[in-house]
This record gives sequence, structure tokens and C-alpha cells, in this order.
Amino acid sequence: MTSPAAARPNPYFPIGQLQCETDSGIDTIPLALEQSFPSWQTTIPERYRGMDAEELTRRIRNARATLGDKVVILGHHYQREDIIQFADDRGDSFALAQYAASHPEAPYIVFAGVHFMAEAADILAAPHQQVILPNIEAGCSMADMAAEPDVHQAWRELGELYGGTDDIIPVTYMNSAASLKAFCGANGGVVCTSSNAKQVLEWAFTQGKRVFFFPDQHLGRNTGAAMGIPLDEMVLWNWRVPAGNLGGASEEALQGARIILWQGHCSVHQRFSLTQIEDARAKYAALGQQVQIVVHPECRYEVVQAADANGSTAYIAKYVANAAPGSIIGVGTEINLVARLAKENPDKTVFCLDPVVCPCSTMYRVHPAYLAWVMEELLDGRVVNRIQVPEHHRKDARVALERMLALK
Ligand code: 13P
Ligand code: SF4
Repeated sequence: MTSPAAARPNPYFPIGQLQCETDSGIDTIPLALEQSFPSWQTTIPERYRGMDAEELTRRIRNARATLGDKVVILGHHYQREDIIQFADDRGDSFALAQYAASHPEAPYIVFAGVHFMAEAADILAAPHQQVILPNIEAGCSMADMAAEPDVHQAWRELGELYGGTDDIIPVTYMNSAASLKAFCGANGGVVCTSSNAKQVLEWAFTQGKRVFFFPDQHLGRNTGAAMGIPLDEMVLWNWRVPAGNLGGASEEALQGARIILWQGHCSVHQRFSLTQIEDARAKYAALGQQVQIVVHPECRYEVVQAADANGSTAYIAKYVANAAPGSIIGVGTEINLVARLAKENPDKTVFCLDPVVCPCSTMYRVHPAYLAWVMEELLDGRVVNRIQVPEHHRKDARVALERMLALK
């Protein structure tokens, strides 16, 4: 992926951040200086574009204080410091969905995260609550790899091959569009997150013989492997292959498949490699020290296998917090979280396994200028950037999400 930081030629950006500076976060520069701004939401009023971090922080703080209980701000762990400082609740996708489902108090939920997370909050929130995504262009490249027509096509082909779909349970990762959550709800399936994928798959195998898992092949494979499913019983479905070709898989492989894995991935987590883990272990071994490795399950199979532990962003945060003082921990996940963990755990050495800076470029789009804008609009009684899942998807998507929430 193109790193917004790596591409940015301006005097505000310390060159040191081109390397993973895990003891400091990524500084906010005025929106107008962001090289990628033209591809973000450009309808933000002109006056916000030149404001520096200090002014934006002051404006957000003032708006918050005036709005009081009317607004709750949810922040995903990958948000930058200048955003996360305002979060009433921060967490992984599961915790934030749970929060939205169980806090009907505030009429406005400002979701500092990406589009699929705001959609899930809208589905689970009470009818009087409105969910706002500060930058409407904050999506997820992995979620975009599963388009509804492609998933329907695959489902039809699988049905033809197996003589029906009754025995296939569709499981979508939270990182997917609401329409796909609805597809799962309508077809006896469910949603999972990185924190409950194993419980969800175990449940799915009580409902059917096979699981159709999308969009993240790595989370699906890693979870299946943790359940003891052999790799050759997890078959890749390549959605780029023209329709009618069984996603490039053979009939024989699919007949033996227990999990059909959509060929999607996260561009941030695919950067982590076995070599990085081996290098980190060798480097510290040479100093007579031991390094612990914790990674997100969106990383490749061999990376997860070589790590000491893997889990959701909340799991990773807890893993680091619970490690003994003096521990050295190499982390395989997004840089804003790694930087925060390094700062919050000064008695430990916490570093990112990837030597080149690796922010999630879509999470990064939630620049404080957008947060200031949507909050000040609320002050004036206007809701901008509301995320509203269409009614025809809401009901079934909620079924799939509630099945998941009931499992944990
Ligand atoms: P978590 O649910 O672990 O926070 O993961 C969300 C995500 O998008 C990771 O890339
Ligand atoms: Fe999507 Fe990857 Fe960003 Fe997570 S880190 S929101 S999966 S692109």
C-alpha cells in the first residue's frame, strides 16, 4: 500500500518517522498539507484545511464540552493520538460494536474508525441514535475486496457444486460491507471479529459441514489451523477469476474443503514476514536477550505460526500490558497502536516488526480536521456524514451480528 507518510514532502514530517518510530506517534499536520487529501473527503469546508493540530484540538475539546452527553466518541486502536485522546471508549472492532449495542444514551455516536465499523454501530445502535463517520472516505481495502455480486456468484457456484447450500455456513469478518453481513444473516450465517473467530467457526461447524469465509483469507486460515483443520482442507477462492470457474479451485479440492477462503487480505498486515520475526529473534539472541512476538491474525499463516501469540488489537494491547517489566516485544500490527503501546509501557521495549512505517492509510484519513468539522456541525444542530444502513440490509445484518454477540 502507499504509505501517506512516506509520500509526504513537507517540513512538518520528521524523516525519522519513515522508520518505525515506535516511541512516538504520527504528528498531525494541516489537512491541506496532506499529500493524499485530494483523494479524501474534499467537501470539508475550506476553513478547516489550514488549521494546525493545536487549533483543531482546542475546537474539538470545546465542541465536546458543549455537547456533553449528547455525543459519544468511539475510537479504534489504530487511530492517531490526536483522535484517540477524545475517545470515550477505545477498543477492537468487537468491543466497539458491543459498546454501540449497549449504550443507547447518546443521540450521536461519532465513530473514529472506518466505514464498516460505523455501519455495524448503526445496525446495533438504538433507532434514535445517529452514527457519524468523520471522513466518509475512511474505508477498508480488505472489505473492498469482497463485492456483493462476487460473493453471490461464488455462493451460486458452490451451491451447484455441492447440490445446495444448506450445509455451507457463510461467515463474514466484521471487515465487510453491511450487505454481506445481511447475506450471512439471511443464509444461516454469522459475523466474526479477530477476537472471536474461533468461537464463531466452532459454532458454524455445529450448523453445517463447511464454512464459506470472507473476506480475509488469513484470519480464516489461521483460525482454521488453530482448530486443527489441515491446510489442504482450506481452499482458496479467487474472486478475480472469471465467473463459472469455481474461483480457480479444482472440483476435487472443493469436495474435500471444510473452509472455503475468500482471497482477500489486509495490505498492512500482509507486510509482516517470517524473516522479520527471525531477524528480531536473532538480533536479541546475539545480545543474550529474548524477544516475544505478538501479531494480529490478519498476518500470513507462517507469521502467525512463528509468533508467540496472536490476537485482536485489544488482545495485543493486553499482551503488552501484562508482560513482565523489562520484556522485549516485537509487534505485528498497525503503527499507531504499536507507538501507543510503546509509550504506555515505558518499562518494556516495544517495537514494530516492520522496519518501514506501516499506518493503515484509511484509518489515517480520520484527520482531526474532520472530527472538528463534524463536532462543530453538531453544535449548530446539523448532522453531516451520517452512516445509515439501508433498511433492506439492516434486519438480516443485525441477525448475523446478534448471533455473534450472543456467542461471546
Ligand atoms: P480488531 O478487531 O482486532 O481491532 O481489528 C480490526 C482491523 O481492522 C485490523 O486490521
Ligand atoms: Fe482494513 Fe487492514 Fe486498515 Fe484493518 S488495517 S482497517 S483490515 S486496511
